[in-house]
Amino acid sequence: MSELNKIVLKILSNGKGILAADESNGTMTKRLDSVNVPSSPENRLLFRETLFSSDGMKEFIGGVILYDETINQTSNSKKTIPELISTSGAVPGIKVDTGAKVLAGSTKEKITEGLDGLRERLQRYHKLGARFTKWRGVYNISDKYPSKLSLHSNAHVLARYSALVQECGMVPIVEPEVLMDGDHSAETCFNKTSEVIKKCFEELMIHKIDLSGIILKPNMILPGTNSNKKISSEEIAKLTLRCLKENVPSDVPGIAFLSGGQTEIEATKNLNLINKYNDTNFIMTYSYGRALQQSALKFWSKNIQDIQGTQKVFNHRANMCTLAAQGKWSEELEKK
Ligand code: 13P
Repeated sequence: MSELNKIVLKILSNGKGILAADESNGTMTKRLDSVNVPSSPENRLLFRETLFSSDGMKEFIGGVILYDETINQTSNSKKTIPELISTSGAVPGIKVDTGAKVLAGSTKEKITEGLDGLRERLQRYHKLGARFTKWRGVYNISDKYPSKLSLHSNAHVLARYSALVQECGMVPIVEPEVLMDGDHSAETCFNKTSEVIKKCFEELMIHKIDLSGIILKPNMILPGTNSNKKISSEEIAKLTLRCLKENVPSDVPGIAFLSGGQTEIEATKNLNLINKYNDTNFIMTYSYGRALQQSALKFWSKNIQDIQGTQKVFNHRANMCTLAAQGKWSEELEKK
């Protein structure tokens, strides 16, 4: 077993998942504005540190994705943030892309940037304790999109990023996110997501990526947010599994879904069914941002001093997601 594969298994085994706490300062400011908390470096640290020092970290969370600001911060207990995460048994990770910008040549689409100087930044993050990384490519759906240009260029940069990350001894999370915005059907999402994932693996193979040392972070197959053709969670789970079975090489050890705007309960229920029906060798777990943090953030914003209360809310959510990653979640357990 390679060192990279060992890191993947440490992060994803036994129903553990990933806490995506890598919101950029811009995105975190939007999240904090929505609950009327001023977005200062201190408040961003306080909320995140509250989650990272909760009991739930030990049992449920195998890895945490950080943002550059956070990986450089020191907790109240005087530990650095990567030390705090490692103490709980989880692996510190870091978002290394610098965001999605307008794609020249197809200006309604985006290309993710961040390759310049990446080798040096990776070495610095490795020294700070990071052992895995994230890069998010983003695709929107319409009859014309994603265009050939977007499919090609995003897959290409995801592969170049992955090669540099593995060279530095870390595991790349490969995140091609097909957005939920739009009125498209689940079938369209299935077809477009299949094309996106297929293209990503073509490029990863050209760039000689060790597939046993990556984590794929895809969207689930869902109808667009404004679609009037809703489908059941069972159908979502079956379509998602079929898409992954048809397009992900079997060498990939683990798949960790993004929540992408689903509610906490939707993201949990769908993951649970995916695991109930999972007849592949892929570990299927979560790498949730909003679907792990929303309730905790809401609670905390009203009781900023109540660290234990906030941790209780977070622990419950992480517990439910981990049960779902084992196909053992139920609505009754949710209500307890
Ligand atoms: P969400 O689960 O909120 O979609 O965030 C996951 C993530 O890391 C997006 O890049």
